[in-house]
Amino acid sequence: MQACIYEEYGPAEVVTVGEVARPEVKADEVLVRVHAASVTTADWRFRRAAFPGGFALAGRLMLGLFRPRNPVLGMDFAGTVVATGKDVTRFRLGDRVFGSTNPMRRGAHAEYVAVKESDAVAHTPASLTHAQAAAIPFGGNSGLAFIRDFGRVQPGHRVLIVGASGGVGVWAVQIARHLGAEVTGVCSTRNLELVRSLGAHHVVDYTTGQLGEPGKQYDLIFDTVGVTTFAGCKAALTEKGLYLPLNSGLAEMGQALLTAFSRGKRVKHAISKNTREGLEALLTLIASGAIKPVIDAVYPMSQIVAAHRHVEGRHRSGSVVVTMEPLAA
Ligand SMILES: NC(=O)c1ccc[n+]([C@@H]2O[C@H](COP(=O)([O-])OP(=O)(O)OC[C@H]3O[C@@H](n4cnc5c(N)ncnc54)[C@H](OP(=O)(O)O)[C@@H]3O)[C@@H](O)[C@H]2O)c1
Repeated sequence: MQACIYEEYGPAEVVTVGEVARPEVKADEVLVRVHAASVTTADWRFRRAAFPGGFALAGRLMLGLFRPRNPVLGMDFAGTVVATGKDVTRFRLGDRVFGSTNPMRRGAHAEYVAVKESDAVAHTPASLTHAQAAAIPFGGNSGLAFIRDFGRVQPGHRVLIVGASGGVGVWAVQIARHLGAEVTGVCSTRNLELVRSLGAHHVVDYTTGQLGEPGKQYDLIFDTVGVTTFAGCKAALTEKGLYLPLNSGLAEMGQALLTAFSRGKRVKHAISKNTREGLEALLTLIASGAIKPVIDAVYPMSQIVAAHRHVEGRHRSGSVVVTMEPLAA
């Protein structure tokens, strides 16, 4: 089968389209013909071996110390079940499914991917295209975990989301709004309208030099970009406000430990997981019209390098999707 392959760490150009063996399906797995897959921040970080502060060695131990152990990137996919292992009960041949592979395994940027039935995989509703479904897992699960679970957003909370138009930001804005928060989204000029349309009550254009509203305090500051610090945000947090960096390293882990038992302003270090529960919760919100996937661009598999560049540029508006159609021989 054809797949997007990388044999060494490096810039987008290290990814090429080539032939690899089609995965064998094990007893507890399904084989999915991938129609669409997302290129996410995790994909460019794994391709470049670029990990947030202090996690470089741990990241390389996970992926391969000197070169990637698994040459096929990609976690988020949508497609059709074409084979099932003998123990599989949740899925049948022909089912439209979407989800995320185990991050240790990856392999979704290919014509076929094998996933465990117990992985974060769900049926794709008829109302969603494969591209829309592939746009959900990474940003949706992260947005849900950080806003609902780690941020514990309640009705009436004032929430500031820095990077409101990015892969995670577009979901965070919608979920915070759905939970009843007063949402302020920070992005550049060209994305102000998008962020407003996703439900933000207020928008701030960071190109003016502002990262929040002067004089206002927030119950939660969620920074998806890594352009703020706890020290810099303290004055903008309410008395018990929470600073929640999505992109946190060892420094933020230390601050989180130091403030864990504080009755005042706190930092939380958290890592989200792609879960089936998360996908099901997101589908319920999508069905109700509360949230929706946002797709910035769709590339054919042959333009995988352009898709990687787009995502690594860190100015995407929502998801970047690749259609996994094989190249003509
Ligand atoms: N801890 C976890 O569990 C977890 C989970 C998921 C992701 N992450 C990490 O979280 C980070 C964010 O992921 P993502 O996929 O959402 O990133 P992304 O899509 O690359 O984010 C792009 C966003 O950042 C904004 N932005 C760029 N430069 C900015 C600046 N100088 N000031 C303010 N905003 C700026 C962009 O706005 P404009 O386009 O308008 O400029 C856009 O909204 C990544 O580093 C990822 O590794 C961590």
